[in-house]
Amino acid sequence: MSKDTPLPSAEGFEPRIVAFFCNWCTYTASDLAGTSRMQYAPNTRVIRVMCSGRIDPRFVLQTLREGADGVLLGGCRPGDCHYQSGNYKCLRRFKLLKRYLAQMGVENERVRLEWIAASEGDRVQKVTNEMVEQIRKLGHCRLEQIPRPETEPAAETHDLEQVGAGGMI
Ligand code: FES
Repeated sequence: MSKDTPLPSAEGFEPRIVAFFCNWCTYTASDLAGTSRMQYAPNTRVIRVMCSGRIDPRFVLQTLREGADGVLLGGCRPGDCHYQSGNYKCLRRFKLLKRYLAQMGVENERVRLEWIAASEGDRVQKVTNEMVEQIRKLGHCRLEQIPRPETEPAAETHDLEQVGAGGMI
């Protein structure tokens, strides 16, 4: 998300949240929420990935540095991953990422992982609204002010270009 992305409201702080959703479950659920006309906060920009196992933790770090205030990750429920174990891989990476972010002084609530099945549009609505309210209380993320440590490998340039283009990765 660009720093120039207009905020949903000119008055007060409106959180900017980027969501990485798995194509087969959570993205389908968010689509269902849309077609079912379930109202949820417009603060989230969704990036579709083929599987939550595709979400490189460096995507999350880069997203926060680029100005997002929170990142929501969504995948198929345990046992339902279309690539067998991608969501377990995602969970292992997520736990390490949270520890790293804590070391960087980033609040725990800014990054959230949820398993949401394709039929659970209402859950996308609930989780998104909850996250917006949580981040609203926290304010802006300060990670963007912290330079990337030399020990932290940069995300692959071509991957980030695909994310930036809003394409499916
Ligand atoms: S296909 Fe959805 S988490 Fe792997």
